[in-house]
Amino acid sequence: SSLHSFLADLPKCEHHLHLEGCLSADLLFKLAAKNNIALPSPEENPAYASPTTLAKRYEHFDNLEDFLQCYYRAMRVLTNESDFEMLAWEYFTTAAADGVKHAEVFFDPQSHTDRGIGFEVVVRGFNAARERAEKELGITSCLIMCFLRHLPVSSAAGTMQTAVAGGYFDEKDGQQRAIAGLGLDSSEVGFRPELFEEMYREGEKRGLRRTAHGGEEGDPSYISGALDTLHVERIDHGIRLTEDADLLRRVVKEEILLTVCPLSNLCLQAVKEISQVPIRKFLDAGVKFSINSDDPAYFRGYILNNYCAVQEAFDLSMEEWRTIAENSIQGSWIGEERKFELR
Ligand code: HPA
Ligand code: ZN
Repeated sequence: SSLHSFLADLPKCEHHLHLEGCLSADLLFKLAAKNNIALPSPEENPAYASPTTLAKRYEHFDNLEDFLQCYYRAMRVLTNESDFEMLAWEYFTTAAADGVKHAEVFFDPQSHTDRGIGFEVVVRGFNAARERAEKELGITSCLIMCFLRHLPVSSAAGTMQTAVAGGYFDEKDGQQRAIAGLGLDSSEVGFRPELFEEMYREGEKRGLRRTAHGGEEGDPSYISGALDTLHVERIDHGIRLTEDADLLRRVVKEEILLTVCPLSNLCLQAVKEISQVPIRKFLDAGVKFSINSDDPAYFRGYILNNYCAVQEAFDLSMEEWRTIAENSIQGSWIGEERKFELR
């Protein structure tokens, strides 16, 4: 559409991006070969025959659970610090081409430590790429550690302890924290936010930023639960907020940012078409949101594809896009100086 170059040039902030969700079928095969990791046999899983068949497998997911199985299976090729760095670097270079200036990115430490990979290996690799992205691409970023809600709470508590003991949350002489915030992801329904109250309480005490996935597949009580119990500043996805008018008014009043991921919602069958993502409702009601890519290697596009898909479905005005851009800057976890630069 006519706004394409305007959208491409718009300085973007990304708030909902899983680094592990940037593992393309091509990179997976490359890392498997490099690390001598045996992939599933054709009998076990015919999708792993080639990068092409695997990419084809990613073209349809029944729901969140179906996707998550592919996502966790794929990660097993990530072994060394340099693998994590390469994965994140691929994200930052693609994001730079899409006009991303600031990115707050998720990672799932338990999905690696449960396979025997050291917590420090993962964080060092990701943070090496973040430093390089700031120097070479001018992209500022921060790292958000997510708890996997389908695992026992004791596993999340152990992860919190590892991060605390390793000093990953510490602010050392004006330097950025290695990990800036907490998130909550994986299977939503049946794994309520309230379970993770203790870890979020500890994070809040330490001055960490807080967000949680909610209202993607779960009903609005998963959103209010995260606000009330985890004291989150944002909700990731949050599209089912439209089902509770009182809660929607609260989200507007408290200026909670929703990190909406339209192509993800489409690919995971949360909506039948992009026009069902409540973009228009949120704009009209004054709900603040940003537009994000979630797991771009799996969901047919990085951030600009998501912006363009929204534009095609909703035909928004320049004014509305400026509001979206401003809210995504305002809702970023950065100082006023950086916010000023992004405007
Ligand atoms: N929802 C829940 N867990 C996830 C997602 C998501 O969209 N992406 C990666 N882990
Ligand atoms: Zn997500």
